[in-house]
Amino acid sequence: MLGIWNLNKRSYFHMKDLTIGIIGGTGRMGQRLVSFFEDAGYQTLIASRRTSLRPLDLSQKSDVVVLSVPINVVEEIIAEIGPHIREDSLLMDVSSLKTRVMELMLKHTKSSVIGTHPLFGPNTRSIKNHTVVLCPGRGDKWFAWLTNLLKEKGVKVKITTPEEHDRMMSIVQGLTHLSTIALAYTMKTLNVNIDESLEYATPIYRLKLNIMGRLFAQNLSLYRDIEILNPYVREVATTFLHSVNKIAKMVEEGDMDKFAECLETIGDFVGDFRPIGLKETNRLFEEMLDNKDTF
Ligand SMILES: NC(=O)c1ccc[n+]([C@@H]2O[C@H](COP(=O)([O-])OP(=O)(O)OC[C@H]3O[C@@H](n4cnc5c(N)ncnc54)[C@H](OP(=O)(O)O)[C@@H]3O)[C@@H](O)[C@H]2O)c1
Repeated sequence: MLGIWNLNKRSYFHMKDLTIGIIGGTGRMGQRLVSFFEDAGYQTLIASRRTSLRPLDLSQKSDVVVLSVPINVVEEIIAEIGPHIREDSLLMDVSSLKTRVMELMLKHTKSSVIGTHPLFGPNTRSIKNHTVVLCPGRGDKWFAWLTNLLKEKGVKVKITTPEEHDRMMSIVQGLTHLSTIALAYTMKTLNVNIDESLEYATPIYRLKLNIMGRLFAQNLSLYRDIEILNPYVREVATTFLHSVNKIAKMVEEGDMDKFAECLETIGDFVGDFRPIGLKETNRLFEEMLDNKDTF
């Protein structure tokens, strides 16, 4: 018990003798979190199914308990450890979905609670200028501590509610990954020879294939969870299907005017983002072409 709230504000934010316990600390994000907190000068503990330290023991020894476990097991872990977390501690998570996890963290603890979602993966070299979404749950002081720590490291902080986060993620992650998965699935169904197709690659095709390769090189159960466990993705997926069907029908009918009109309307919707997208992709393409290994 550190009695940290008795310290003055300045030393509170520089408090280095806190113990940060990471459940799932052997995993991809977990390892990233260990280096983040250790670089910031904190002591860390890790627990998972493979460690001798059990999640429950870690929870009792830590001032901050971080949950970095797959979304489909986070519920049972919160129910197990929640009641044993000290009231003056902080329980936070990094799950890609927030509503259900936040409800359970608040229900099973008396401690402070913060829901977080780092909007980057564990392979990110520097987290500077990346964004972390924060959902305040309970307790202002720990919220100030975390916000300051992230800002000190140059991380952008977006504060929102769990519901708004999940609704936004149904587009930012749900729709984006769905379209990449659909692209790969279509290529698989058409039996496209990827290596051969690359001999004809335009920069945009190369970029799309890179995104496809990147998705399938990563943690596939995470992509499953993002698509299946976020209830807002269902409506997004249905709308995506209708949109693809409409476009495919126009192509099938060979109606040039109708297709051109459709493109114009969508272009108006994209609006002011058109020149931004053009500029940023031009820069990316130049970098790709400058790198001799790319093509
Ligand atoms: N990867 C990303 O790009 C990314 C980005 C943002 C947020 N996140 C979030 O980060 C969290 C972890 O994702 P990840 O990619 O790091 O997954 P991961 O590499 O599969 O790691 C999962 C960790 O949880 C542990 N674990 C699994 N089941 C457990 C159980 N029943 N009890 C205790 N520990 C258990 C695993 O260790 P053992 O196998 O040893 O038990 C491992 O340490 C998820 O909530 C995800 O939404 C991930």
